[in-house]
Amino acid sequence: MSPRSLRAPSLPTGAEKVAAVDAMFDAIAPGYDVTNRVISLGLDKGWRRRTVRSLGVRPGAVVLDLACGTGDLCRELARQGLTPVGADRSAGMLGAARTSAPLVRGDGLSLPFRAGALDGIVCGFALRNFSALAPMLAECARVLRPGGRLALLEVDAPSQPLLLLGHRVWFGHVVPFVGGLVAARSGAPRARATAAYRYLPASVAYLPPPPELLALITAAGFASVERRALSGGIAQLLTGTRS
Ligand SMILES: C[S@@+](CC[C@H](N)C(=O)[O-])C[C@H]1O[C@@H](n2cnc3c(N)ncnc32)[C@H](O)[C@@H]1O
Repeated sequence: MSPRSLRAPSLPTGAEKVAAVDAMFDAIAPGYDVTNRVISLGLDKGWRRRTVRSLGVRPGAVVLDLACGTGDLCRELARQGLTPVGADRSAGMLGAARTSAPLVRGDGLSLPFRAGALDGIVCGFALRNFSALAPMLAECARVLRPGGRLALLEVDAPSQPLLLLGHRVWFGHVVPFVGGLVAARSGAPRARATAAYRYLPASVAYLPPPPELLALITAAGFASVERRALSGGIAQLLTGTRS
C-alpha cells in the first residue's frame, strides 16, 4: 500500500487495510506521542485517565492495553495501580514505546493469551484501524474472565452544531496539516506523515454509528454496555462487562 492509496477517498479494506495500517504506524512511530499531544491539545491525557478509571477493577488486576502503540495507556494503567501488558501489530510503535510493561507483538484478532486470562482490556484510538470489529470484540471476550471489564476509547464527532463546525475545521483541516508537519519534523518520511494525518479524519468513516457499535459489543458477550461522550463529544468511551 503506497501513501497515495491512503490519500484516496476510498478507504482500504481487508488485507489491504491491514498492510496500509501497519506501514503507516511503523512510519509515524518516532513522533507519535508528541504529535498526539499537539493534535488533541493535551486532552487525550484526561481521556486516558478516565478510560482506566472506568474499568473499576481491583488493584493489581492484569489489564491488556490492546493496540497499545507506544504504551500511553500502559503507563496510565501502572499509575492507577494495575498490572499492564501491551499488544500491538506495529514493530515500529512497539520500538518507540516508553513503558516498563511487557509488550508483545501480536494481532488483536488472535491474541497470545489463554481464555479468561485477563481482568480487563483497554484500547485507545484503534477501533478504526482493525480490519473487522466483530472478530476483534469476540477475541476480547475470549481472553477476559467472566466479570472482566472492557474500555474502548475512540474519537467521535460532537452533535452540537457549533461544536461540530469547529470540530470539522480542526479535525478535518488543522489536524492533517499540523499532524503531518509535526510527524515529519519528528522523523517520519514527509509523504508518509502527510498521508497518515489525512487518514486520521478519513478513518472515522470506518466506525459504525453508536447504536450499532453498542450492539456489536453486546453481541460479542458483554453486559452493562455503555457509551459516554467526552469533551463535548469529540471523543467517546465505550465500556462493558464480560458476561
Ligand atoms: C492510533 S494508534 C493508538 C495507539 C495507542 N493505543 C494510543 O492510545 O495512543 C493505533 C494502533 O493500533 C495498532 N493496530 C492496528 N491494527 C491492529 C491489530 N489488528 N492488532 C493489534 N494492533 C493493531 C496500530 O499498530 C497502532 O499502534
